[in-house]
Formats: sequence, structure tokens, C-alpha cells
Amino acid sequence: PLVPVLLSGGSGTRLWPLSRETHPKQFQPLVGDASMLQATWRRVAGLAGVAAPIVVANEEHRFMVAEQLRRVGVKPSALLLEPVGRNTAPAIAVAALQARAGGADPLLLVLPSDHVIADAAGFRAAVERALPAAAAGALVTFGVVPDAPETGYGYIRAGAGSVAGDPEGAVRPVARFVEKPDRATAEAYVASGDHYWNSGMFLFRASRYLAELQAFAPGIAAAAEAALAGAAQDADFTRLQHAAFAACPSDSIDYAVMERTRSAAVLPVDVGWNDVGSWSALWQVADQDADGNAHHGDVIALDCRNTLAWGGRRLVSLLGLEDVIVVDTDDALLVAAKEKVQQVKDIVARLKAEG
Ligand code: GDD
Ligand code: MG
Repeated sequence: PLVPVLLSGGSGTRLWPLSRETHPKQFQPLVGDASMLQATWRRVAGLAGVAAPIVVANEEHRFMVAEQLRRVGVKPSALLLEPVGRNTAPAIAVAALQARAGGADPLLLVLPSDHVIADAAGFRAAVERALPAAAAGALVTFGVVPDAPETGYGYIRAGAGSVAGDPEGAVRPVARFVEKPDRATAEAYVASGDHYWNSGMFLFRASRYLAELQAFAPGIAAAAEAALAGAAQDADFTRLQHAAFAACPSDSIDYAVMERTRSAAVLPVDVGWNDVGSWSALWQVADQDADGNAHHGDVIALDCRNTLAWGGRRLVSLLGLEDVIVVDTDDALLVAAKEKVQQVKDIVARLKAEG
């Protein structure tokens, strides 16, 4: 079977003030009418042989996760609750250990729960194409052709040769994986024309991930094992053992495993992927009028170009603006230049510092 692992631990601070710690972006209907978590499940529900997902989330969000998934007709086979976030390497480790219970060793499709994929059917076809390589032992990534030297992504250079289990040669070995390079390096990678962005989705056998983690980050592997072994079952929730998980080193799968493993592979995809990491990314994927304005809620924009206006309870009106983002919520209003939206997280940091 194929087990989706839904990661729902981020706080999406760059989408403040809509995305909050108590209600981060994956639980909101940013695009379309389902939440991003619900859309993530729906995207894979039609895959042949797909099993119920394993979900890894912060314990604060347990009821929201359970309820949102119930509404799209799925009950996770396990809902693993983290007492604190320790990034993706440990989150995926506890999911892989859970999947191995009873001696099984399924393929895991690891999915962030806060991405948009316009072509869901194309994505499912890509997963199916990658299955044999993953079954044969590869840690498969899905590569996206970059269109800008973004420094918030992993970069993958595909190598020569073939990957075991992939007779068609669609899946390629990874020559190099570099997580979040600096600006100059990212520019060189984009200019080279032979690098992909890592989309942050992975396909591998549970045992293969655990073996690589054991080799490159044994401290994470041990802490994850202890946290799951000591977990408490509370109705449908599996509460990871607090002290063991809190003591786990914090690292992402990208740094801990993908940069180091020799078994990485990449399947290039063109499926309208967007990680909606900022308000300008959301503007890009939103429906726009002829002048490039995107509206949500009760909005009037006159003589505007390339704006995003996200209304709350009251009317939002824009006049004569270009490349501006306006987000209105009950207790906070954001007005930002579109080119500065990466710094929205600095506002959140300032608010935190001021308590
Ligand atoms: N359960 C859980 N626990 N989930 C987590 C945690 C955690 O501690 N930390 C992050 N996640 C979830 C996030 O909610 C998100 O869905 C996913 O894991 C990826 O985490 P991000 O924090 O968003 O990673 P990133 O965007 O910096 O980088 C990753 O994604 C990029 C593409 O969007 C990397 O894989 C990059 O290489 C990649 O390019
Ligand atoms: Mg991300």
C-alpha cells in the first residue's frame, strides 16, 4: 500500500494576519473552498492502492485536524501529536516508525499540507510513475523548474545514469541536493538550467528513510523511536512522549537526510505547484481580473493593477494602487508593497518580541 504522510506543523507566519499560530494557513481555504489540508488529502485520495493517511501535527491543532479531515470523509490511521515542533526530519521519522508497526514496510508519500497543485491529475500520474523507483529503494523527490533564484527552497541537480526500478528513465539520480542556498548560489543554479527546486514532497519506503536517518542523524532516529514507544493513546490521538520528543534535535529532512543520502532521485514535474509561501505567491495563484487584481470577500478596486485585497467582515476599497497587498481581519490590518511581502514575518517577530 501507499501511505500518505500529511505534515501539518508549520505556522505560516508570512501570511499574517490571516495565518496565526492558533489558526495557520493549512487550516484555511486560501484557494478554493476547502482548506489546504483538506485539498491535500483530496488530491491523493484517488491514487490506486492509497491507504488512510498518517498525520503529524502539533497537539494544539488536534481537533481542527480531525474535524477537517472528517469533513472530507477520511479518518487517519494515526494522528501523531507533537508537544513541540522539531521540524520535518523527526515528524517524518515518527510517521515512518508508526507505518512500520507490525512489521509492514509501506511506501510513504510525504506531503506538506499547505501547498497548491493546480493539476492534481498530473500530480497523481507523477506519483504513480515514481512508485517503482521508490519501491526499489530510492528516496524520490519531485522537482520543479525554477523561475527565480528563491533562497527558501532546496535545489536539486539531476545526474546522469538511471535509477533502479525505473526502466523508462523518467526518474533521475540526484547529483547534488542543496537546501536553501545563498542568493548568489541560487542565481548560479537557476542560470545553469540543470537544477530543479525541491517541491518538498517525497516518496520512499518507510524502512529506507529510517535507515538513512539512522546513518546521518542517529540522534533524531533515537529520539523519534523513544517518543513513539512512550506515546499515550488518547481516543484517536497518539500523543508523542513529551520529554523524548522535546529532547530530539530539530532539523529538516532536507538538511538531515536529502543533502547527504546517495539514494536520492528526482522526478521532474510540471503540475502547477506553488507553496503559497507569501502573499505575492497567493496573488499569483488566485483568480485575477483583466488588470491583475485578485479579490477575496467584499472588495471594490478602482483604477488598480496587480493588487491583492483580502477582505474580512467589512467592505475593503482600493483606489489607484499598484502592486499592493491589503489584508483585513477582525483585529489586524496589513497594507504592504508586494515586493516586500517576505518581510511580513518580521512584523510577526516584532509582535512576539513585544508580547
Ligand atoms: N508535523 C510537523 N512538525 N510538520 C512540520 C514541522 C514540524 O515540526 N515543520 C514543518 N512542518 C511542515 C510544514 O507545515 C510544511 O507543510 C512542511 O512541513 C515543510 O515545512 P516548511 O517549514 O514549510 O519547509 P520549507 O518551506 O522551509 O522548505 C521545504 O519546502 C520547500 C518547498 O516548499 C524544503 O523541503 C525545501 O527543500 C523545499 O524547496
Ligand atoms: Mg514551506
